[in-house]
Amino acid sequence: MTASMTTLTQQDWQESWYDLEVYKSLMAKQRIDALFQEHPGRAQAFSLAAAGLKLDFSKNLMTEEGLVLLLKLAQASRLGDMIEALFSGAEINNTEHRPALHTALRSDGDGLDKTAAEEVRKTFARMRVFVDKLHQKQWLGYSGKAITDVVNIGIGGSDLGPVMATRALAPYAQDSINVHFISNIDGTHVTEILKPLNPETTLFIVASKSFNTIETRMNAEAARDWCFRAGMAQGDIKHHFVAVSTNIAAVVAFGIDEENIFPMWDWVGGRYSLWSAIGLPIAISIGMDNFEQLLAGARAMDEHFRNADFRQNMPVIMGLLSVWYTNFMGAEAQAVIPYDHYLHKFPSFLQQLEMESNGKSVRRNGEPLKYHTKGVIFGEAGSNTQHSFHQLLHQGTHCIPVDFIVPAVSHNPVAQQHDYLFANCMGQSRALMVGRSLEQVTAELQEKGLDAEEIKQLAPHKVIPGNKPSNTIIMEKLTPYTLGALIALYEHKVFVESVIWGIDAFDQWGVELGKVLAEDIYTAMQDDKAGEELDESTLGLIQFFKEKQA
Ligand code: F6P
Repeated sequence: MTASMTTLTQQDWQESWYDLEVYKSLMAKQRIDALFQEHPGRAQAFSLAAAGLKLDFSKNLMTEEGLVLLLKLAQASRLGDMIEALFSGAEINNTEHRPALHTALRSDGDGLDKTAAEEVRKTFARMRVFVDKLHQKQWLGYSGKAITDVVNIGIGGSDLGPVMATRALAPYAQDSINVHFISNIDGTHVTEILKPLNPETTLFIVASKSFNTIETRMNAEAARDWCFRAGMAQGDIKHHFVAVSTNIAAVVAFGIDEENIFPMWDWVGGRYSLWSAIGLPIAISIGMDNFEQLLAGARAMDEHFRNADFRQNMPVIMGLLSVWYTNFMGAEAQAVIPYDHYLHKFPSFLQQLEMESNGKSVRRNGEPLKYHTKGVIFGEAGSNTQHSFHQLLHQGTHCIPVDFIVPAVSHNPVAQQHDYLFANCMGQSRALMVGRSLEQVTAELQEKGLDAEEIKQLAPHKVIPGNKPSNTIIMEKLTPYTLGALIALYEHKVFVESVIWGIDAFDQWGVELGKVLAEDIYTAMQDDKAGEELDESTLGLIQFFKEKQA
């Protein structure tokens, strides 16, 4: 099946959906472990490789026949055309009338016009000069001392991607500069981060696509006041503040020199922006050459996504499996568990990527949807997770598919710990699949010498149903290249889901209301009479807050 086979219609889409409903009823009694017995060689047939990653999706409640139906659904959704539209810069974000061209940032401007492509090249060149200056201790603070600490101030896409990738690539960090992140409007965040730092040797990156986000503006003001309190004058700010934004006027009005602004473009979505100058903290931490390796890994995944046959296409298969569990198997949540401590922020990053992109309930044309879209994404680094939420995965009542992510080689081999980490990861995916039957549990308890009554009481609690699906993504090592590929894999998986669901993955109107209401409430809090239209609960809580503050 290729991108050009696009002659199917909406009716074909409905028929494919119906066929999958029928397939679902056929699969009702099927067990994943039995599929391995029925089909020797299943693991190989249900594994894919691309851009330094291997995906084993054989531990899913899915057969080759089911895949054919899912691929037909993809075809009926015109996925091939939509992939081309994405890469070629069509107005894929239709509610904001913009393309979503994050892929152009890692492909030398592919999909952009000449001027925009040139601007991207210039920005990367400026990033290299800036990063090298910092590393070579040539960027000096106002008192002539070299910068030792860089603090990124941003939130959402202007924070989560950079903080996740900086943590993930800590083994590649260059010692000369420490990188920190401030995002939360809670004054605790800015206070605690700044506490050990010296204003003379600290540089701030104010990262905000809109330069309108209240959290970022207030934290940037707090950082600027901290500098002023240390004795800096307005003229000294240029040594300590740079910005990344599309809103040049607002950055200049804030007091940051125009020459210290790295541009951003409206065709890059916030949660897809770590590949742009928003990725500066990553580049500062690991150096520009490594940052380019991150882009190269993502580019390799882009090429795979754009060119591979859908049956062999990693993001397409992962997206379709997600649709299968969400819409046909009743899954309302999905866990992502990296068995690599450096990836501990990856689930938080995915929460924005997946839930802000695909947490929608109307089609592109505004019609309400008659089916579910994205469920809850959660996760943490394994094996910690085994001692927190895996109980629910194994014996809870919900169907929660899991993505396990694990490297074969550790950056930190300590005794046999990496082998144990891997064994734990495999143990979990296998336990989810095979479970423990009543017969097995009964036999074990009999062997331990329990009597019949005790066994009757205890056995049901020890039964583990199994038949819980999982994917495993394995790589040789977590490097800038494989991390780039991994992030791009999930970006494209999210896109595949959005195409099947017929939604715009690149807008986020739902987050606006809360921002507006927070402003209204802030105003009401300053004036006793204002806010009378608020509900009783909100008014009561405001009153409690004010009484306690007084
Ligand atoms: O949370 C909403 C949001 O608009 C995100 O989409 C975005 O990543 C974040 O706020 C930060 O926006 P900005 O970079 O404009 O400050």
